[in-house]
Amino acid sequence: MKQVKTKVAEIWAIGGGKGGTGKTFLFSQLATYLALKKKQVILIDSDFGGANLRYFFNIKKSEKSIKNFFVNKEPLENLLSHTNIKNLKIITGDRNSISISSIKYSQKMKFLRHIKMLNADYILIDLGGGLNFNTIDIFLLADKMIVITVPEITAIDNLFQFVKNAYFRNLNFLLKKHKLKDAAKNIWEDRKIYGIKDIVDLTDYIKGNLDFDGSISKKISEFSIFIVLNKLRNPNEINQGFSIKSLCIKYLGIPSIYAGYIASDDNFRKNLSISDYLPKFNISTRIQKEITEIAENIINKEQIKISNIKNA
Ligand SMILES: Nc1ncnc2c1ncn2[C@@H]1O[C@H](COP(=O)(O)OP(=O)(O)OP(=O)(O)O)[C@@H](O)[C@H]1O
Ligand SMILES: [Mg+2]
Repeated sequence: MKQVKTKVAEIWAIGGGKGGTGKTFLFSQLATYLALKKKQVILIDSDFGGANLRYFFNIKKSEKSIKNFFVNKEPLENLLSHTNIKNLKIITGDRNSISISSIKYSQKMKFLRHIKMLNADYILIDLGGGLNFNTIDIFLLADKMIVITVPEITAIDNLFQFVKNAYFRNLNFLLKKHKLKDAAKNIWEDRKIYGIKDIVDLTDYIKGNLDFDGSISKKISEFSIFIVLNKLRNPNEINQGFSIKSLCIKYLGIPSIYAGYIASDDNFRKNLSISDYLPKFNISTRIQKEITEIAENIINKEQIKISNIKNA
């Protein structure tokens, strides 16, 4: 039966960085947290190559997965699976039938439209790693864009590259929409003449010289990311979130919110079904506290609280 849409959902997406940094883990936790707050939540596994969200909820390989949307043209709302958490439904992925790079432009646009049509308070989209432009476009759809990394230089570099690519793609869309793409390209090619060194200078130039009605500047200023650090082994590593924040503003001009961190927990196992512990949301009281802080900071667009860091 066709559902009547009554809510405008807030969309969160998690992407970027290396594989295994905890994207799926964090989103399964955040979705559970929101559902326990009595919000209607839909979690979508859009990690086409590495779909594994269903394992986190102990859902058997179901008849219905995202494959039915891309291959059989079924509407997304028909593909919701129930979880054992009230208010939380998921759309499972299918790692064998579709690859992210094979999705055509029209399919992608339809997918993005259908996500927006889903009836929920929150829609959370779990993405795969890597820099594929289809992944980035789904990421850019979100009202709240979240990235997660472990405190290792290679992982942080991966995350930085992802944010940079997302920022460029967004800028590109804006310039294209305002028919300024060629002008900006020429300026970038002749950047020495214009005294432009990097993307921050280019953005400033566009804002000051090409953006006559201020609409591009407004959109650019809305581009912001939430940063989460995972698998910390030492309280000193907490500060790396602030370093990533500084990198984003210095080299890309992107404001960000350091939403929180999660310590590494040797007690939890990949094959431990989340249904065993999530309904009570008590993997450990420490992780529960960390997830709560991250979720509330994302909801309220607030930075991690310094007092909590001092007590870590
Ligand atoms: N804080 C943590 N402490 C210990 N193990 C963790 C922590 N966070 C995640 N893990 C484990 O790390 C592994 C990778 O996590 P997850 O699958 O969420 O990563 P991912 O970023 O989604 O990876 P991929 O890019 O492959 O989808 C899982 O086994 C997960 O249980
Ligand atoms: Mg994953």
